[in-house]
Amino acid sequence: MQRILHLVAAITPGRVLGRDGGLPWRHPEDLARLDALTAGAVCLVGRRTHEAWRSVDRHGRRPVVISGSELPLRSPAPRAANFPAALAVAEALSGDIFVCGGSRPYADALALAGQRHLRLHLTLVEPEQPGDVHFPAWDHLPWRPLPGIRAMTPGLTFLTLDLPAGAGG
Ligand SMILES: NC(=O)c1ccc[n+]([C@@H]2O[C@H](COP(=O)([O-])OP(=O)(O)OC[C@H]3O[C@@H](n4cnc5c(N)ncnc54)[C@H](OP(=O)(O)O)[C@@H]3O)[C@@H](O)[C@H]2O)c1
Repeated sequence: MQRILHLVAAITPGRVLGRDGGLPWRHPEDLARLDALTAGAVCLVGRRTHEAWRSVDRHGRRPVVISGSELPLRSPAPRAANFPAALAVAEALSGDIFVCGGSRPYADALALAGQRHLRLHLTLVEPEQPGDVHFPAWDHLPWRPLPGIRAMTPGLTFLTLDLPAGAGG
């Protein structure tokens, strides 16, 4: 049976993901949730996210870097020229598969809605802030909320949203 394709992201109401190559905020509780979700998992990341996420190799995570160029990677990792190739690398490995950004890898994963079981682990970060990288449109899809933990940090909301294959896309 095909594994669930997980996406994990923290976004503002205006879908801001990042600014100046990093995160526009610092929320330790959100980073702890990210670590807990992705520990031991295969993590598909664009080259810039791999650059920005200094601890991507920790907690047993196995990054697969999407990069169409020959620019050097910050640390050694399997490299794939596009999203389908990265997914094929991940499928050959055991464990959960998480798409961890940036914007094109998320868009490529969301484009599989309806064809593949997706699960979106979203952190909503308020208030709105300026940014230069955005998460794709996501709330037009017929997600089903799943129970999850509640954030203690003011301004953070944790959501777990499920979209089985065949549920529309
Ligand atoms: N808030 C969050 O949850 C979150 C999560 C992740 C990242 N971020 C933030 O988002 C920013 C990074 O994201 P980003 O969207 O700018 O960059 P990114 O997707 O991480 O990296 C972009 C690079 O990845 C490669 N790439 C991505 N998709 C590709 C595809 N479909 N085919 C071929 N190559 C592809 C290309 O590498 P080459 O140039 O080598 O071809 C491209 O230049 C940072 O600010 C980071 O902190 C935030």
